Amino acid sequence: MRKVFIAAFVIALMFLFSYCSSSKRAATTSVITYNASVMSVISEKCSPCHIPDKGGKVKPLNTYEAVRAEIDDIIRRISLNPGEKGFMPFKHDKLGDSTIALFKQWKDDGLREK
Ligand code: HEC
Repeated sequence: MRKVFIAAFVIALMFLFSYCSSSKRAATTSVITYNASVMSVISEKCSPCHIPDKGGKVKPLNTYEAVRAEIDDIIRRISLNPGEKGFMPFKHDKLGDSTIALFKQWKDDGLREK
């Protein structure tokens, strides 16, 4: 009887595992776009400084064209560490790894607007 339970448990785990790995694969194959992902990160993390509507006084990063044109400098700066020259977001904590990866993935995916 006990063996049956263990077998059932193992089978349940296998189902769970295959479900998780397939949903993960689906998430990583979807293409990152400015409208769906990048815009909201910038308006949250680079505000108000780079958002003129919010009183930002430094280089505007509030449009697709502006962000696209600056992407190499953006990736370089957010990959630095706080205290290093040029680090962004200025005077804030470093962005999380997954957020930094999102910018890189967006570039690899071809900098699509939508
Ligand atoms: C608290 C204000 C502030 C925040 C928040 C901030 N920045 Fe900046 N940013 C600045 C200032 C000030 C400069 C100009 C000084 C310099 O070039 O280092 C600058 C410059 C830049 C530049 C160079 C612009 C140019 O003129 O070439 C880039 C690119 C940049 N920031 C990206 C970002 C990104 C991406 C974020 C969000 C993840 C961010 N910044 C968040 C204040 C900020």
